[in-house]
Parts: sequence; C-alpha cells; structure tokens
Amino acid sequence: MTITQQDELDGLKKIGRIVANTMQSMAAAMEPGMTTRELDGIGQALLEREGAMSAPRATYDFPGTTCISVNEEIAHGIPGERKLAAGDLVNIDVSASLNGFFADTGASFCLGPVQPSLDRLCRDGKRAMQIGIAQVGHDKPLAAIGNAIGAFASKRGYTLIRNLASHGVGKALHEAPEEVPTWPTRGDKRRMHNGLVLTVEPFLSRGGRWATSGAGDDWTLYSTPAAPVVQYEHTVVATRRGAIVVTVPG
Ligand code: CO
Ligand code: CO
Repeated sequence: MTITQQDELDGLKKIGRIVANTMQSMAAAMEPGMTTRELDGIGQALLEREGAMSAPRATYDFPGTTCISVNEEIAHGIPGERKLAAGDLVNIDVSASLNGFFADTGASFCLGPVQPSLDRLCRDGKRAMQIGIAQVGHDKPLAAIGNAIGAFASKRGYTLIRNLASHGVGKALHEAPEEVPTWPTRGDKRRMHNGLVLTVEPFLSRGGRWATSGAGDDWTLYSTPAAPVVQYEHTVVATRRGAIVVTVPG
C-alpha cells in the first residue's frame, strides 16, 4: 500500500507493534523441551488478546498462527510436535492484520549457547537487514536494497538465498511491489515512492543459495545446498527522509 494520511500510518504502526511484541514474547518464552506448537500457542494468545488475526492463516490457510522454522528449516515451518533443544537456531516469523492493516516481521534466535559462528551469522543477518533498510526512501531504486545487502554479504563471505524475496505489504500480506530482491540484481528499473510500504527481509547464509521444499509437507522450506540460514524482517515505509520502521516493539 501507499500511505497518504496520518491515520493510515497510525493503523500500520499499531499492528506493527503487535507483531513485534508477539515475536519478542515468543522468543523470550522459548525453552528446551517446548514444542513449536506450544510456542505458536503463545503467539496466538497474544495476537488474540490484541484482536489481531494471523495473516498466513487467513490468507493462505497456513496450518499455524506463526511460522516457526528450526535449524535445517529456513522458512514457513509449521508449528507441531518438534521439541526445541539447546543450541537450536529458531526463526520466528509473525504477520497479522488489524482493522485492515497488515504487518510482517521475523527474526532468527539462538536457543541458549551456540557455536560462535552461528552467533556471528545472527549478528550479521540483522546487520544485512539494516543495510537494506538504509536504502529505503522516496525515488530510490528498489534494486539498491539487494545491491547493498549483496555487497555486505560478499565482503564477509556469506551467501544469500535468492528465491525468497521481500514484498509490498500493508493492505494485504503480499502485494505490489512483488518480488523485491534482497540479493544483487541488474536491470530492475522500479523505484520506491513516498509512502510505499514494504518488507526488507534478507536470508543470509553460510553457503545456502536457494530455498527448496522438502518431502514432508507443502510449506516448509530448506536450504540448497544445506547450510545455516538466518532471516531478519521489518515492515517499513519509504519516505523523503528514508525509512520508517513500523514493526517496533513497545
Ligand atoms: Co515474514
Ligand atoms: Co515477509
């Protein structure tokens, strides 16, 4: 969507805060032995309390309230009987709507102490997202987001998953502009405009290049080649003064 009025920004910020708070509370509640279904239930209760509705469930009939992806799962993991264990890398992605406004946020968390290289991947994944967000603004090329993230990733010896893109959001979970790359591209002439609402969500990896589905279900995505992957995602608004991040806890 394109925001033209203050009340639209207020509505988007409200659901942005709700999804951010939900994701942070879920991350804080994680402990070894908990199933991902139990973790999803915590998210569901928090969204319900705010009157918000799970966007993947409402839009795609996703079999869960939030997406929870553990270790080799990199996105769209279905909450279920899998038990969390110390040392797991857990991605939580929360998207929801309230009063017709949609926001989308995600982050990867380490459960307890992990190998230092995994901590570094998480720190750099967050940094890759921030570098992308710094490219958001009125009249800036959409491709600048992926080009900046790509320069950072290659400088540090990382790879990027190249078939999970960022996207417009605001009036629906996924809307125009579709397929906003978070990896380097050429020839994309699209530009952002004042008020445009989109996500920035790079998938940074130590070797992974593609997200591919597996044999188990139609949702869960895995890395090809197999490698650790992290994702960090904010919903932002492009303005003449850069990006406004709306998925902020508070
Ligand atoms: Co998301
Ligand atoms: Co998204």
